[in-house]
Amino acid sequence: MDEKILVLDFGGQYNQLIARRVREQQVYAEIKPFNKITPAEIRQIGYKGIIFTGGPNSVYDPASPHFDPQVLNLGIPVLGICYGDQLMAYMAGGTVSSAESSSEYGKTTLYSTDCALFRDVPHTSFCWMSHTDFISQVPQGFCTIAHTDKCHCAAMCDESRRLYGVQFHPEVSHTAYGFQMLHNFLFDICGCHRSWNMEDFVQRNVAKYQKQLSGKKVLCALSGGVDSAVAAVLLHRAIGDNLTCVFVDHGLLRKDEGDWVESIFRGRFGMNLIRVNAEDRFLEKLKGVTEPERKRKIIGEEFIRVFEEEARKLGKVQVLVQGTIYPDVIESGAGNASTIKSHHNVGGLPERMDFEQIVEPLRDLFKDEVRKVGLELGIPSELVYRQPFPGPGLAVRIIGEITKDKLEVLRTADWIFRQELESSTAKSMASQYFAVLTDTRSVGVMGDMRTYGHTVALRCVTTDDFMTVDWTHIPFEVLERASSRITGEIPGINRVVYDITSKPPATVEWE
Ligand code: XMP
Repeated sequence: MDEKILVLDFGGQYNQLIARRVREQQVYAEIKPFNKITPAEIRQIGYKGIIFTGGPNSVYDPASPHFDPQVLNLGIPVLGICYGDQLMAYMAGGTVSSAESSSEYGKTTLYSTDCALFRDVPHTSFCWMSHTDFISQVPQGFCTIAHTDKCHCAAMCDESRRLYGVQFHPEVSHTAYGFQMLHNFLFDICGCHRSWNMEDFVQRNVAKYQKQLSGKKVLCALSGGVDSAVAAVLLHRAIGDNLTCVFVDHGLLRKDEGDWVESIFRGRFGMNLIRVNAEDRFLEKLKGVTEPERKRKIIGEEFIRVFEEEARKLGKVQVLVQGTIYPDVIESGAGNASTIKSHHNVGGLPERMDFEQIVEPLRDLFKDEVRKVGLELGIPSELVYRQPFPGPGLAVRIIGEITKDKLEVLRTADWIFRQELESSTAKSMASQYFAVLTDTRSVGVMGDMRTYGHTVALRCVTTDDFMTVDWTHIPFEVLERASSRITGEIPGINRVVYDITSKPPATVEWE
């Protein structure tokens, strides 16, 4: 992969989306914060094009992010989006103004003229706007190439220098021809080729790791999740039996999940897999613990202990494989959000272990790209499209103390709910769905007898990114069947409720 587009990040909310839209057109894009790269480095790396992202600031605000104007003289095409458009105008000597009366938010009619950026875009179309500031005077050498009813300069360009700016957001799907505009920028203006695809990615990386890791002992922690699975199978294709996978079964998995993971990796791929059945150990540590964050801490620490012990048994291991993906890399760079929950990803790096090398084969990939790689490697689609499952597993879905009996009850309730949901039309709306064993007991009646049983809650959410979620409006019949089966098939459960809270204010998991 030699062709790259730089997405220069000025703090906008759609930055990852911009990179994804570029990659969807089979051109590799990487995001860099504006203060982590210089024009000299940009030239040296040889980017084919640069996209300035949006951002929340006003260019005249002293605290706003700026960039060295030399970037406009590198001979590399630039596309500025929203704040990036205004910044480009400001850097090149134009004028940016602010007026509440010309604010535009949402879907707006765009009138555009003929130019390379708008090839195959009708002169009248819809775009997505979100701005208060606007370009009141374009810089010398630039001309206005689009406007809206309120905004005189909705797009500008200096075609001779291949510099383009758009006030709207071409990356969001509400901009009807946004994809076409990005396509024009990438292929007609920057001269990119379609060099980024997952088949090549697999071949290149298999060849790379064959060479790089030849003769080395490599270890990978498998969680049953998509990322670690794809990383492991990729490495296995490169180095075969020199890879050992350790699967720590903490006993907090869903029904039959441990056996399923084992059958895929050992059975289907013939990998060197060590499964550690550590349920008793984890339950012992969790005895009497009710506080959610303590549960997470205990499970995270115990996971590392078990993993270390297994690794030690293997003798000297030089390399650790991790399933880190691109959003993890970007997010760990930001790090200013407050901690709501300390998410524990099994496979997290045990700090005290010494490896010569950490290999992260998926570091550059978005989740949808990881899935494509997984399919390319022959991983079954049930695993590739598996819904997310928290590292601490069912421990954060049992409110209060965790016991073997409660785990069994929850596993069955969860299994029933999943079965009912998956055999209905609701499946296509659901991003994640599961049961929770609450610590509420209530009075019921079965036969002619009074019962005092436990309450199971069902949760099903719809979301793209799990940062915000809606509760899914699943058909009542699905809830009805799940409820009657759960109360009928599981002794001790006499009430089922459905969680109708979005996030925020709730979170997806109950703990
Ligand atoms: P919350 O509950 O924070 O969940 O709204 C958002 C997404 O993250 C998953 N989740 C976790 N994943 N370790 C993980 O690996 C955790 O401790 C954890 N807690 C929540 C949750 O299932 C949802 O998909």
